[in-house]
Amino acid sequence: MGKYRPFDIVALDDRQWPGKRIERAPIWASVDLRDGNQSLIDPMDGERKWRFFELLVSLGFKQIEVGFPSASQTDFDFLRELIEGQRVPNDVTLQVLTPARAPLIRRTFEALSGAKRAIVHLYNATSPLFRETVLGLDRDGCKRLAVEHTALVRRLMEEHPGTDWTFQYSPEHFTTTELDFSLEVCEAVLDTFGASPERRVILNLPATVEVATANVYADQVEWFCRHLRVRERAIISLHPHNDRGTGIAAAELGLMAGADRIEGTLFGNGERTGNVDIVTLAMNLFIQGIDPELDLSNLTPVMREVEHCNQLPVHPRHPYVGDLVFTAFSGSHQDAIKKGMASHRASLASGGTPLWDVPYLPVDPLDVGRNYEAVIRVNSQSGKGGISYLLEQDHGIALPRRLAIEFSQVVQEIADRTGREITSQMIHRAFLDEYRLDAPYRLLRQRIEERDGEVAIAAEIEGPQGGLSVSGRGNGPLSALVHGLRGQGFDIDVIDYHENSRGQGADAEAIAFVELRAAGRPVFGVGLHVNTTTATLIAALSALSRAMRQDEVEGVALSV
Ligand code: KIV
Ligand code: ZN
Repeated sequence: MGKYRPFDIVALDDRQWPGKRIERAPIWASVDLRDGNQSLIDPMDGERKWRFFELLVSLGFKQIEVGFPSASQTDFDFLRELIEGQRVPNDVTLQVLTPARAPLIRRTFEALSGAKRAIVHLYNATSPLFRETVLGLDRDGCKRLAVEHTALVRRLMEEHPGTDWTFQYSPEHFTTTELDFSLEVCEAVLDTFGASPERRVILNLPATVEVATANVYADQVEWFCRHLRVRERAIISLHPHNDRGTGIAAAELGLMAGADRIEGTLFGNGERTGNVDIVTLAMNLFIQGIDPELDLSNLTPVMREVEHCNQLPVHPRHPYVGDLVFTAFSGSHQDAIKKGMASHRASLASGGTPLWDVPYLPVDPLDVGRNYEAVIRVNSQSGKGGISYLLEQDHGIALPRRLAIEFSQVVQEIADRTGREITSQMIHRAFLDEYRLDAPYRLLRQRIEERDGEVAIAAEIEGPQGGLSVSGRGNGPLSALVHGLRGQGFDIDVIDYHENSRGQGADAEAIAFVELRAAGRPVFGVGLHVNTTTATLIAALSALSRAMRQDEVEGVALSV
């Protein structure tokens, strides 16, 4: 104990933010090409920076921090190519970062020469730890650093009137700086720059290292906004990092507290545990019915491109985009999803509400460019629901309920034995192996006649002891066959049967399910054939064959 201390809380008894809602998208600024890039094991080369820049533009970002040109030649060259090659769309503003050091600010302006529009982002650390331990400055010295370099930025902007300039200032380590001191520095910066409601300055309040719960950040933001002398001369920007894993919450509460703008990265790459993830923030708006003002309609290729550029994987459970986030393995989740989707489809078909209210799926996978294929996958945690769903969806086999229960035990046994996911193909194979037994009883040919309201059958069956000629009568071909078999000494009865078709047109075939009682015990069989009657007879013999197998295994007498 004694090594760490609790974080401070803000004296703000009449805080307003808890009662606020986010009602529109903030101004988004991507810092992937600067903060994100600075955190990579292998920083992006020119080709990767290009690809990332184009990706950001295609998603609709209007403010893009493209680098730290005074610190990196790659960033400097990239900026020159963007400007000289006229590669920046008219509605996109480039942003570059510079520390409060005169030669580096001058170099930054060199890199920006000829730009149509640019945000110059100046920062210096303001927290006591940095003042005392790193910079060796008192409060006045620290404020002077910000003010003098703001004056230099202002002068250089005035010397280059061909560019439409915006100035941004960050009191780095805002969240661990005394609030009154952050305010004092920022007011001095605004005054020095000559900020006004017509000439607004972006004040970026970074959680350089996230050190407190998100409500504390919100309090700091609200306190800061409320104490600004003229709120309208600043655009309040947030730059949350994610050290405590609550960067998203901090950004959202900070917006509720009055911020206008968010700096972050795609999928949250960034120093240490990352910058705030703009995709998640934007999707959180989308699922409340708020236009996120970014095009996130096809997220998988976006994720792949980001993985390529950053050379880092996005987690399979990453919100909204990870490979597994639309997949349910648990049986009870699968049942609920199936019902929810069916009810949503029914509602759309009947002109009812389009409201998305599907259990366990906060967003329709289609809205982010995914499909329903991966929604239900089967492993040892899944029940009959998922198995039936995949058989029906992928293989056109709609199982009757009792058969679904029976077959789920077959799949469960495979899942428990292998400990692996059971794919739709494996389920299909297991189904055919289990129910379409060709032996020992196999239908060779049959003749069916209808006489006096009764059906008569004469069937040739291949059995374990050779051919069997079976003839019988009944109210349909199935009961005629079963009567015939009973006449040969088999203790069987029909409990139930179902049939439906799978496939369409010339490829259509009938699938029949017959449930027999054999030696007193229920057993299912399945038949597939282009002819419905034949499919039913095959299903009866499949059931007989399975009963015979059980008979062999368990010694139950099938023949009387
Ligand atoms: O995290 C941070 O404080 C920064 C500043 C330079 C804005 O990236
Ligand atoms: Zn940062």
